[in-house]
Amino acid sequence: MKKELNRLQAVLQKNGVDTTRLPVHVAIIMDGNGRWAERRGLPRAYGHRKGVERLCDITRMSSDIGIKVLTLYAFSTENWKRPFEEIDCLMDLLVEFLRKKTEELHENGVIIRTLGNCSQLPGRAQDELELSIDKTRQNTGMILNLALNYGGRSEIVASVKKICSGVMEGSIRLEDIDEMKFSDHLYTGGLPDPDVVIRTGGEYRLSNFLLYQAAYSEMIFAKPLWPDFDENEYAKALKEFQNRKRKYGAI
Ligand code: FPP
Repeated sequence: MKKELNRLQAVLQKNGVDTTRLPVHVAIIMDGNGRWAERRGLPRAYGHRKGVERLCDITRMSSDIGIKVLTLYAFSTENWKRPFEEIDCLMDLLVEFLRKKTEELHENGVIIRTLGNCSQLPGRAQDELELSIDKTRQNTGMILNLALNYGGRSEIVASVKKICSGVMEGSIRLEDIDEMKFSDHLYTGGLPDPDVVIRTGGEYRLSNFLLYQAAYSEMIFAKPLWPDFDENEYAKALKEFQNRKRKYGAI
């Protein structure tokens, strides 16, 4: 563990990252698995499998260096438009990932959570998620949010509905609704907003990710495709974040 931490510290140091000023909440749009595979003449599923390997590395590194919340966009509400075989492959990879990695994440104190409407995921994915969430619930380390069947707009609509029903049944007063109250009803309720949203794969879009929460997040668009986004690329993104001057609308 100590050796591993020294190795990661060296990666951060090499990239000039100040370990005392790391972001609290990092959110990542893991884009580029398909292209990574296609460029090699391989099936897209192969790219997703490589993508899971990077997911494991980046999660491990985040937890080891002291990131408090890591939110990963693993399956969007729009991803249902993909061919059935690809969706099935992503769900299989999710199940495999949870089966193989929950124990290790648990040992590292990671708390596994989800963002999104997981009741629409296949039963096998729901069952495995439930086991992983239950097992890691009491941990005190990094929160790993897996955004699954997640869409920012539908999250906002769901929050509006929850608040409206609270008002109708009298548990919420109209005059008490403010930005804080509203965000408490989002899937991320109680968590700090992301300090930084990283998107890999060279595209410059938010793609319905954390629309409300990312209001003041620093956006980092990294060229490498997700399967190529290794610890060194992550350190570079963290350095870029530290170079930004966050003003929150002030001067
Ligand atoms: C985008 O690549 C990636 C996704 C659809 C989600 C990310 C999924 C993983 C990292 C693997 C599965 C996740 C878990 C939690 C096991 P893309 O296919 O859109 O890439 P492209 O833009 O090159 O086509």
